[in-house]
Amino acid sequence: MLRLAVLVSGGGTNLQALIDSIRQNKLPGVSIEVVISNKPEAYALERAKQAGISTELILKKNYESSQAFGEALLSLLYKYNVDLVVLAGCLFMLPEQVIQSYKNWIINIHPSLIPAFCGTGFYGLKVHEAVLARGVKVTGATVHFVDEQYDNGPIILQKPVMVYDDDTPKTLQKRVMEEAEWIILPEAVRLISENRVHIRDSRVYIDRI
Ligand code: GRF
Repeated sequence: MLRLAVLVSGGGTNLQALIDSIRQNKLPGVSIEVVISNKPEAYALERAKQAGISTELILKKNYESSQAFGEALLSLLYKYNVDLVVLAGCLFMLPEQVIQSYKNWIINIHPSLIPAFCGTGFYGLKVHEAVLARGVKVTGATVHFVDEQYDNGPIILQKPVMVYDDDTPKTLQKRVMEEAEWIILPEAVRLISENRVHIRDSRVYIDRI
């Protein structure tokens, strides 16, 4: 069994993609044990509740240091016996001790083809605005392991998406989600659950069947 914690801050459509994949038996041996949010109003929490998944709220401002916040988050992950942490629209930086304790067991979904349009300040619609401003013709999404820097760890999966002349940031965001994010996030979880993802020299290798 691969036990997930999904960390969220917003709408939770990527969380929904995981919930749906589990319901459709596309992720045998995978369970979402808890959804953790730093925003009480995140609709992702509602999605979790509707699916009967435990939810937890963790607010950084309630802790006096990043260290204390990290310890609280880690004890939540231990409480639910979490194996893999999935950042699905999680807009807070994970404290160092969480990243170290779950080294190579934290993944993130980012709505561009890393290393383009990523790093500090590239989140939400800002990514797609930058894509349109630069005029690239292809964008996409990336699932990668998380290390201490934003959008920096080894890349697991990527999927390209066409940019159209009449795209707005919103239409592009929607297409990137539908054609890439909601497909490659569950796919990455499946590959990890099947023990087919290996890291060597900061690169990911996937066992093909
Ligand atoms: C997605 O675009 C994801 O790639 C990024 O944040 C957004 C979250 O959307 N990290 P949702 O909350 O899953 O709908």
